[in-house]
Amino acid sequence: MLSVSSSQAHLLQALKGQVVNPPPIWLMRQAGRYLPEYREVRKRVPRFLDLCFNPALAAEVTIQPLRRFDLDAAIIFSDILVVPHALGQRVEFIEGEGPRLDSVATTADLAKLDRTKVPSVLSPVYEAIERVRADLASHVALIGFCGAPWTVATYMVGGGSSKDHAQTRLWAYRDPASFQRLIDLLVDVSAEYLLGQVGAGANALQIFDSWAGSLPEDEFARWCIAPAKAIIQRVKAQAPHIPVIGFPRGCGALAENYAKTTGVDAVSCDTSMELAWIRDRLQNLVAVQGNLDPLLLLAGGRHFEERAHGIVSALKSGPFIFNLGHGIQPETPIAHVERLVHLVKTGEA
Ligand code: CP3
Repeated sequence: MLSVSSSQAHLLQALKGQVVNPPPIWLMRQAGRYLPEYREVRKRVPRFLDLCFNPALAAEVTIQPLRRFDLDAAIIFSDILVVPHALGQRVEFIEGEGPRLDSVATTADLAKLDRTKVPSVLSPVYEAIERVRADLASHVALIGFCGAPWTVATYMVGGGSSKDHAQTRLWAYRDPASFQRLIDLLVDVSAEYLLGQVGAGANALQIFDSWAGSLPEDEFARWCIAPAKAIIQRVKAQAPHIPVIGFPRGCGALAENYAKTTGVDAVSCDTSMELAWIRDRLQNLVAVQGNLDPLLLLAGGRHFEERAHGIVSALKSGPFIFNLGHGIQPETPIAHVERLVHLVKTGEA
């Protein structure tokens, strides 16, 4: 392993397999409701998607956490559900409840999805990326993202958040050929979307497969690994230098196969993954990112500091990016985030 040698952003060095000390840090969902300045902007925009598609405001909220914390990356402010919205599905975000969509439940619904407007609907995201990249210091990487086809499909088919994704799994079991058409469409549109983000200035990409953990191994291979591999092949064919992070949340030991076969440069590890296993089975294949419990960050205190330290000591000898195991919680005290960044950056963690 190489140690830090170039002036490239630390996040990108780690994603290329280098050992960076202290490790780079960013936090999933780092822009959001735990920040009063986010809530202030959010108040002015009644509909959440209008914030995602307003380039000036989306750029502003993307940069907000960087003004407060010494983070190594910004992640563009958007949502994984902009893709179904761009395909013409009705997507709404209900306060206190979450996303609500008109369910795609039949092959007739599938036929109604229309990709012709996708580029124009998503273009404000590209404009927001251009603005953010122009504003960010060069040592801060800008991450673009999309939802993985499986996870996006759970919202499209289930009509919103669901506990066990039963409707989507049942469709995939009963009629895999038609479900494959939905996944293929999402692969196509997501690959184009990621390439659009790279064209606008994203330096790295993350694919969020938040519900990968609801599938058994054969279906995980078909609906999580294969689509990620197809997206990454498409992205790398046109942008070979752009690293891709995969987040197959909740998939346990299946993450090893994911790391071996998808072509990801890094695996983002969820809270439940054992540190020694991550080090021995994943970090020899790809860079790793993670995996502090967002609720432990919210709780703070000695246990939180010890765990942050435990994560860094277990993973710092290989390519590693400090992050949470899932998105930051809205109730998280800002002082705890400051403390975490301090601990990681000073090497105290
Ligand atoms: O990380 C960042 O700071 C960038 C922004 C970002 C958002 N959503 C903004 C958002 C990112 C990367 C996402 C990803 C996302 N969106 C995922 C994958 C990551 C994960 O958490 O598992 C998923 C599953 C979604 C879908 C989604 N969006 C849900 C289920 C909800 C409602 C639950 C919630 O957290 O409120 C959203 C809304 C959403 N997306 C908010 C934000 C800041 C809150 C809405 C608001 O401000 O009113």
